[in-house]
Amino acid sequence: MEVFEAIRWRRSVRKFSPQKIEKEKLLKILEAGRLAPSSSNRQAWHFVVVDDEKLIKQIPEKVTIGTKNIISWIKDAPLVIVGCYTKALTHFLAQLYGHENHLIDISIAMTHMVLEATELGIGSCYIGWVNEK
Ligand SMILES: Cc1cc2nc3c(=O)[nH]c(=O)nc-3n(C[C@H](O)[C@H](O)[C@H](O)COP(=O)(O)O)c2cc1C
Repeated sequence: MEVFEAIRWRRSVRKFSPQKIEKEKLLKILEAGRLAPSSSNRQAWHFVVVDDEKLIKQIPEKVTIGTKNIISWIKDAPLVIVGCYTKALTHFLAQLYGHENHLIDISIAMTHMVLEATELGIGSCYIGWVNEK
């Protein structure tokens, strides 16, 4: 698939088949994230893969901001990738001047992953309505 095709095809998917995602495909998605550019090449990110069914079912209740119904559809997802960052690993000038480069970096990496998932025929959806703590 051409990059533009993946961009054109991608849409938010909130209904999932029970089919598991093959390890080979997951590794390719993570690799797409790992290869993303980052400010000063700090790669101040961590990707946490949650594939435990019981844990995934708890996510809407545990992490939502407001009502858990906003993200209740997550419970049927076979896989969740949590994009985390460590602000302290970013360039000191970014920290000094309050540049939120870590947010830009993680967003680019997640977009790489979403587009790679699209190429592999896997639907996904960003989730922002979460309590980071
Ligand atoms: C940063 C970000 C956070 C988002 N958070 C949520 C969310 O918490 N729940 C949800 O259902 N969709 C969420 N979305 C998906 C958007 O609602 C969706 O991308 C938008 O409506 C456009 O639709 P499309 O992705 O099908 O093109 C989020 C999208 C982005 C980029």
